[in-house]
Amino acid sequence: MTTLSGKNIIVTGGAGFIGSTLVDRLCTNNKILVVDNMHTGSIGNLSKAMKSGNVTLKRSSSADISKPRFDADIVYHLGMYSSTPMYKKDPRLLGKVASDMINVLEYVREHRVPLVFASTSSIYNGVKPPHREDAQYKVTDYYTEGRIFAERASELYGLLYDSDIAAMRFFSVYGPKERAKREYANLISQFMWLMEKGHRPVIYGDGTQKRDFIHVDDVVEALVRAHAVKGFKVYNVGTGSSHTVNSMVGVLNEKLGTAIKPKYIKMPISNYVRETLADTSKAKRELGFSARIPLDKGISMLTGSKSAGRRQGDPNSHTLLKRTTKPIIT
Ligand SMILES: NC(=O)c1ccc[n+]([C@@H]2O[C@H](COP(=O)([O-])OP(=O)(O)OC[C@H]3O[C@@H](n4cnc5c(N)ncnc54)[C@H](O)[C@@H]3O)[C@@H](O)[C@H]2O)c1
Repeated sequence: MTTLSGKNIIVTGGAGFIGSTLVDRLCTNNKILVVDNMHTGSIGNLSKAMKSGNVTLKRSSSADISKPRFDADIVYHLGMYSSTPMYKKDPRLLGKVASDMINVLEYVREHRVPLVFASTSSIYNGVKPPHREDAQYKVTDYYTEGRIFAERASELYGLLYDSDIAAMRFFSVYGPKERAKREYANLISQFMWLMEKGHRPVIYGDGTQKRDFIHVDDVVEALVRAHAVKGFKVYNVGTGSSHTVNSMVGVLNEKLGTAIKPKYIKMPISNYVRETLADTSKAKRELGFSARIPLDKGISMLTGSKSAGRRQGDPNSHTLLKRTTKPIIT
């Protein structure tokens, strides 16, 4: 497990699922400023880290990164609207993500510090797997466009100012602390929350669609390693294996001790992604990163985790259950 020490670190989106898991990893030996507008973040995600006395939370947009007086050594930028349907509802979020990104890039340019940010495997939508970082991408949706902009603007800052920037294309990330994301949480968490209560999850199509599911602890490992990148680089953050949604439900049934049959409905999405699968060779070669947690173990960790479900007494659980009995976009 890689970590850092003695650094001042900004984590935008640090109250979110991945961001707070990163903060948990780093908070013991570093000073951390979390900048989060709490759109899908929660203070509960930071409760453990706050006890370290090393974490300050600023409830604000990522655009305000330079407002608190904090001389960062490293910036992690995860504070961007995190799901495709959010942008469909309000396409103006695309402009917001782009302008926030410029503020973050200006901060790292002025302070001459490295930036690691959340890109996405959605960039490969419509591209045949396995997905390599140099694949030719296509225009697909607003969310993806925002990340393509973030990558291209970062490349420009690398070219013009020698900024050190790593764009991390996360695949399908799951793990504890997804409660505040509610209907935007990973399919594994959403299905688990339903199945724990004896409800049947809804699958689009026949369940043979495949996803490269990666545990959040592995993602955090990749993020920590990426802080030392030189120049502008893009990395896949996946496992290099993909699993069908049917087999994922099978593992959930096994770990939960249930025998719930999913409900299958006709595929309602025309440009639905059949498979995501990371080519992991570049991250392995350049970052020394390989995912260590296989799906079976990751789901075991999740079903056994106190923070995973209603057993924690989460106030949102009833709302979530009501919402997720609707068909879910996978
Ligand atoms: N979880 C995945 O499978 C996955 C896959 C690909 C990319 N990503 C990206 O990784 C990042 C983290 O995702 P996550 O799964 O932890 O989701 P999340 O929704 O839990 O985290 C995003 C965090 O950023 C905050 N935020 C959103 N917009 C903001 C803004 N304008 N200013 C400040 N804070 C803002 C939210 O309140 C939240 O705390 C996101 O950018 C997401 O798009 C996630």
